[in-house]
Amino acid sequence: MQRIMILAGLALSATACAREEAAVPEPAFVQSAALLADAYQASLQAELSDALKQVGPVGAIGVCQSAAPAIAADMSGKGDLAVSRIARRNRNPGNAVPAELEALYQQLEREPLREGKPHVVTGVVQNRAVFMRALPMKDQPCAVCHGTKIAADVKAAIVASYPDDRATGFAAGDLRGAMLVTRTVR
Ligand code: HEC
Repeated sequence: MQRIMILAGLALSATACAREEAAVPEPAFVQSAALLADAYQASLQAELSDALKQVGPVGAIGVCQSAAPAIAADMSGKGDLAVSRIARRNRNPGNAVPAELEALYQQLEREPLREGKPHVVTGVVQNRAVFMRALPMKDQPCAVCHGTKIAADVKAAIVASYPDDRATGFAAGDLRGAMLVTRTVR
């Protein structure tokens, strides 16, 4: 009887271990995912600040709308990693948090910053290596389009393109969304 219990205990800890191992992606993936997220973020920021300078916030909404997915598609097409942005309170419903990534996203919601830096979580979910990094809300320039006091003309332009917009009312430090990088595990 006792032996059976010991064996059962061993079997249990073995499965727990396997699950734990499966949940951790390779360090090489995490490294290249972080670089890709950096590159996407830098490129978006450059595009956004140019647009704000050249065409102002109303015009910049159109730039965000076309440039953000185009840059993501371009960068994702280069290798076996795919990059995108996701958010629970999203502007573009196509950027919703996928159901299977809920648990990881919730960790970022609980703690957007870790040791003063955007919180990073990783995992292997349904055969995909996953890297997720918090995008904390900032006052400048984010508040112009995602903050609590949005100018009437900007608000009207947002609603015209995004009738179901849920991405306003954020304060600095809130979790605005996340950078997501994934790779299919072979
Ligand atoms: C000129 C207005 C404008 C500014 C300024 C702006 N955004 Fe956005 N943001 C948008 C638009 C428009 C979209 C929807 C893009 C799309 O269709 O994919 C968006 C989408 C997003 C998304 C993707 C999730 C979603 O809601 O669809 C995140 C995350 C995001 N913005 C974060 C930020 C952060 C962080 C800043 C500040 C660095 C910022 N934005 C500044 C207009 C803006």
